Amino acid sequence: MKILVVCLGNICRSPLAEAILQKKAEAAGLLWKIDSAGTNGFHVGEPPHHLSQKVGKKNGLDLSCQVARKFEARDLDNFDIIFAMAGDVMIDMKKIAGSKTMESHVRLFLEDLYPGENRDVPDPWYGDENGYHEVYDLIDKASDAIIKNYLVSKPKQA
Ligand code: 4NP
Repeated sequence: MKILVVCLGNICRSPLAEAILQKKAEAAGLLWKIDSAGTNGFHVGEPPHHLSQKVGKKNGLDLSCQVARKFEARDLDNFDIIFAMAGDVMIDMKKIAGSKTMESHVRLFLEDLYPGENRDVPDPWYGDENGYHEVYDLIDKASDAIIKNYLVSKPKQA
């Protein structure tokens, strides 16, 4: 299964989500391929933010090989599930999607952890290092919920 995680810049939140979800999926024996992208394209070609890399490293994840890219309409055809980190990201994705429909396989990253609450993963970009640690913990919990729900609903599929 191919899964895409999308934030605004693809340098703070979604690189962490890509690495965390990939590691947890592998640990759960799931053949998931995780990718990430950003809607604003400001940081295309850059590695993840140094504080995302630092927090990742502290938790045993190497983000240094990731390269930011922009979310494209054709991603909607190429991925089975697409997670938006926040509602504003979802709005930007709809603009990029144009006439393509998103509803069937796009949802908020925190939906499995906090169903029906429409919660956002806060953007740590404007804050200090604490925000990156908080975002890590939230993404970590949400990733556990995503995998748990998936295993409950589709136990025989990878
Ligand atoms: P991210 O954080 O969406 O979690 O990667 C941001 C990084 C950069 C910008 C916005 C959000 N920016 O506007 O440059």
